Amino acid sequence: MRQFPEPGEKIYFNTASIGPWPKDSRQAIMELIEQWSGLTDPTPKVFDFWREIKAELGKMINAHPDQIGFAFNTSHGLSLAATGIDFKPGDEIFLSDIEFPANTYPWTNLRDKGVEVKFIKSTDRRFDIDIFEKAITEKTKILSISYIQFFNGYKNDIRKLGEICKDRGIFYIVDAIQGMGNVPIDVKSCHIDLLASGGHKWLLSPVGCGFFYLSENSKLEVKQGFAGWFGVDWKQDFTNLLRHNLEPRKSVERLSLSSVPYPQIYAMHESIKLINSLGVERIYEHNLGLLDRLIEYLQDQDFYRIASSADIYHRSSIFSFSCQNPAELYKYLADNNIIASYRENLVRISANFYNSRAQIDKLIENLERFRNRPERK
Ligand SMILES: Cc1ncc(COP(=O)(O)O)c(C=O)c1O
Repeated sequence: MRQFPEPGEKIYFNTASIGPWPKDSRQAIMELIEQWSGLTDPTPKVFDFWREIKAELGKMINAHPDQIGFAFNTSHGLSLAATGIDFKPGDEIFLSDIEFPANTYPWTNLRDKGVEVKFIKSTDRRFDIDIFEKAITEKTKILSISYIQFFNGYKNDIRKLGEICKDRGIFYIVDAIQGMGNVPIDVKSCHIDLLASGGHKWLLSPVGCGFFYLSENSKLEVKQGFAGWFGVDWKQDFTNLLRHNLEPRKSVERLSLSSVPYPQIYAMHESIKLINSLGVERIYEHNLGLLDRLIEYLQDQDFYRIASSADIYHRSSIFSFSCQNPAELYKYLADNNIIASYRENLVRISANFYNSRAQIDKLIENLERFRNRPERK
């Protein structure tokens, strides 16, 4: 079954902003709407798919389903740590100075408590592990970093960072939204304490749903910054709800904020099943292959300047470049039915499994036409 409409003239290279919903996911939402428009009891089905989706997400990151909880977006997942960890004045939190703001504001918000938020200066717009390592002190409590940098697609060495954090007793947080579902990730071998991701990009799911992972052996306790009624264990008995002194659950569900966006999560379930059935390793290979072709072209002339790393270890499904007038180029591509994005003066191309070699060739044809357009001469 085709999961996406025939692309026709339109070429979508913008999954790093918003991912398209596969047909199975759209259908799932429609079914749920149908079901909930009638007089049926939705509860049993809801509990079934909660477990199933956590198992599928667990497969994707090598985690046990019990270590996974739902979140509305990446910021929400990160905020669970920012609000649930007991910070003392003087505690240090390290971030990158080129981090997407979802991973800065939950932390700078803690400055009122006397927490020191320190931005590691990037080198050539890459997170510099040496600078980070030298900056660590006795007071360093947290490193929070994105797996894949949002505007140039730089894939951070999250395993090496995990080892450093493990050795130095630093609680290690990864914002995985730009890697989930398109670049492999293993929370265990990377020693990640908390991982957060929204679903609306490479997980091909609606806005408003996502998830977090919290390690069983996390270096710091994450308490409930907010306490929802689902955070205590009702043992699925909702007949006697006037019990106001139940203890928080032991599992990560203690951090759950009660009723979640069911339709969105229902759709996310289908999207994740699809991605797992294709295999994240294979998707990554495919995406790298497409971008190889673009890199070959970009390297061949001096009108365009590559902004992403060419080192295979640091490459992802995002590739960015520039020229003298990148805003104009972005618009030119859009006018010619090629949807990319424009971030930090760069044209950003995101390639995913529904993109084809023919589409990359079309992009290159357009780049060539832009380079040779008469008004430049
Ligand atoms: C690295 C990164 N983190 C987070 C987000 C989004 O955060 P949220 O899911 O909270 O909207 C984006 C893009 O929108 C991103 O590129």
